[in-house]
Amino acid sequence: MITYYKEDNSFYFETKNTSYVLYINEYKHLEHVYYGNKIERFINIREHILRYEFELGSSTSYSKDSKGYQLNNLLLEYSTFGKGDYRTPSLHIELPSGHRTLDLVYDSHKIIYDHHFEKMPQAKKTETLEITLKDLVNNVEVKLYYSVFENNDIVVRNSVIKNFNEKPITIDKAMSGQLDFLNNDYQITKLDGAWIRERHISKHQLSKGIISFDSKKGVSSSDHNPFVLVHDKTALEDYGNVYGCSLIYSGNFEANIEVSPHNLVRLQMGINSFDFRYQLDKNEQLITPELVLSYSSAGFNKISENLHSFIEKSIVKQQHLKERPILINNWEATYFDFNEKKLLTIAKKAKKLGMELFCLDDGWFGRRNDDFSSLGDWYYNRKKLPRGVKGISKKMNKIGLDFGIWVEPEMVNKDSDLYKNHPSWAIEIPNMKPSLGRNQLILDLTNPEVTNYLKIVLKELISSANISYVKWDMNRNFSDVFSQYLDKDNQGKFNHLYVLGLYDVLEDLTSNFPNILFESCSSGGNRFDMGMLYYMPQTWTSDNTDSYERMLIQEGTSYLYPLSSISNHVSGDVSHQVLRHTPLESRFNVACFGVLGYELDLSKITPFESYVIQKQVKYYKEHRNLFQYGTFKRINSIYDSNIGIWMVMNEDKDEALVLYYQVHSKPNPSFVKIPIKGLVHGTYKITSREQYMNVRDTGSLVNHVLPIKLRVNGQILNFIANRYKYKEDTFCKTMTKAQLESSELLLHHTFTGTGTNENVMMLRDYSSRIFHIKKEKQDEIKQ
Ligand code: DGJ
Repeated sequence: MITYYKEDNSFYFETKNTSYVLYINEYKHLEHVYYGNKIERFINIREHILRYEFELGSSTSYSKDSKGYQLNNLLLEYSTFGKGDYRTPSLHIELPSGHRTLDLVYDSHKIIYDHHFEKMPQAKKTETLEITLKDLVNNVEVKLYYSVFENNDIVVRNSVIKNFNEKPITIDKAMSGQLDFLNNDYQITKLDGAWIRERHISKHQLSKGIISFDSKKGVSSSDHNPFVLVHDKTALEDYGNVYGCSLIYSGNFEANIEVSPHNLVRLQMGINSFDFRYQLDKNEQLITPELVLSYSSAGFNKISENLHSFIEKSIVKQQHLKERPILINNWEATYFDFNEKKLLTIAKKAKKLGMELFCLDDGWFGRRNDDFSSLGDWYYNRKKLPRGVKGISKKMNKIGLDFGIWVEPEMVNKDSDLYKNHPSWAIEIPNMKPSLGRNQLILDLTNPEVTNYLKIVLKELISSANISYVKWDMNRNFSDVFSQYLDKDNQGKFNHLYVLGLYDVLEDLTSNFPNILFESCSSGGNRFDMGMLYYMPQTWTSDNTDSYERMLIQEGTSYLYPLSSISNHVSGDVSHQVLRHTPLESRFNVACFGVLGYELDLSKITPFESYVIQKQVKYYKEHRNLFQYGTFKRINSIYDSNIGIWMVMNEDKDEALVLYYQVHSKPNPSFVKIPIKGLVHGTYKITSREQYMNVRDTGSLVNHVLPIKLRVNGQILNFIANRYKYKEDTFCKTMTKAQLESSELLLHHTFTGTGTNENVMMLRDYSSRIFHIKKEKQDEIKQ
């Protein structure tokens, strides 16, 4: 709810558990008063703002009659440069005369409904507060927008900057918003990484000065996600004050967390000001991306829950909030080396194992047999697909699978018809040799000719066959940034206009094909952000499918992104990224927390693997809703220990799934108990997922495991290992909610080196278990 109290010039935003308070002060500046747990209206708001009685030494007072009023020591809603606030400003503009001082004061406000910015990803809003600030001397107007998402404890805000001067102004920096508050020895948590190790959790102590992170890569990038938490040093998953901040944007962004000499924190996020000069002619405006804020005094899990639910309810297109199909992808199975026969063999096996959708990955078009050619030529390769996309899609449908296709539309290879016909459509600087990424160039999406061409070609491709899924890839970062379409004065707009061009294409496609499931991908998770999720409800999380690396990646990703957006595949052994062997059951146990797929050559798997995969797919289908849409909680972080524990719970809080993942086997280990919190009262049955072990993994112990004696590494063992289904321990207990919370769930002890039976967990390195917890029906208990 948004309330304006005229008597004390204040605005209150109220959500279920939080309040956010603003105040228009005597100088008409917009001050930030409070953001935290829900409170009542202040009796006298002036008593709650920061004000020195006297001018501080070596400070700048705003005006001669306001000695104690120094902008540098206030909590402000949107700061500018030049009037004494020496912290990093949210807005920095060069005005027509060449000076850069701006003084924005309150002009008016209004409440608007169902507000929507054209051709931009954004939250679906109901009620929005629009506050107009003006610098009347310099003819600049800034509108601040605030929307409240009550049930998710979220406030969304952004800014729109407009020029009313006859001559152009140049924006050097325009943040979406800022949050000023008093420091309380806070720390920050952010998600850093690189290719195949995306979104790893990193923590830093705040101290005087600025922590700044950004992307200059043209995409939001895997270096740093556009996301940060500011929190108590002592905050834990279920304890402590946490402020969350994230951006609905897919391009270059910037995040600053500054602590001033007077210990005020300024948290700020927006389009990266580096390599950004945005000229506005008279009456032109710049709309900044939306910033998402959340607060909780109940720790990290609650902030994640707020953000997950917000993304699903207010960002993602609602027609996709349904169970997503289990996919088979041919990339790691074949790479570029495939023909129709090979694909169909994999598809038939996938169908047998219960999978639902075939994704034909890279290599089906032009002359693409490696990554040197053909990007841009979106017509099928006759050798690989003799009857085209239509032909293969029909055959897939006949097998009983839905059909999806991979594209990388933003790119072009020099070795392509598209480049030959339209060299000026590529991003490169005339007379300079361009630097390449994966042998390819990026198309200039600031040019409407290019975006219109892409719309036509992609619409043609998608309509040419029965396609129900599109994987949209993007495999390089920007270099040689220059547009042959834009004039000299507008080159500084390039990075942002590129992103808007991309959004324009995606808007067109997703509205023309509202029921096609689009999956975003950028060499895995190089563009995993809320901007892309607005158009495409799921993202290929990482090219790394090793189960241990995925524990790290998915735990980090879960800070902000919901399970329904996290796409995971079970791939073959050994991991193509880290050469590690991890059990097939663990590869599934980790991948099933989100949207599941498989990416291995199913035509070559053993009967043992077939049996195991079939069981996995069946289990996933039984619990799909919970795995994709349940409330996710981190119980034990794999970053801090040898054990990672996750839980996902249903909305009624009477059913949950728990993952227990061990990194390394420890000799003679202790017992393990897992605290299970948050269920409703009742009695619960806890069962482990039926898992199987390959007897070959028991090495020379095999003769103690199997009823017959065999030669280790012998052919007979090999033959048996590929077929014999050695069932791991089975777990079945009944406990009440209180017992699960207080006494905790006691697991079977792990193998101690002395013996094994059905009550011993044979956990190797990277082994794991899944436990299903379900409330028993009342009548069943009585019997
Ligand atoms: C990068 C993606 O992340 C992979 O899954 C695969 O689609 C390749 N590109 C294909 O070139």
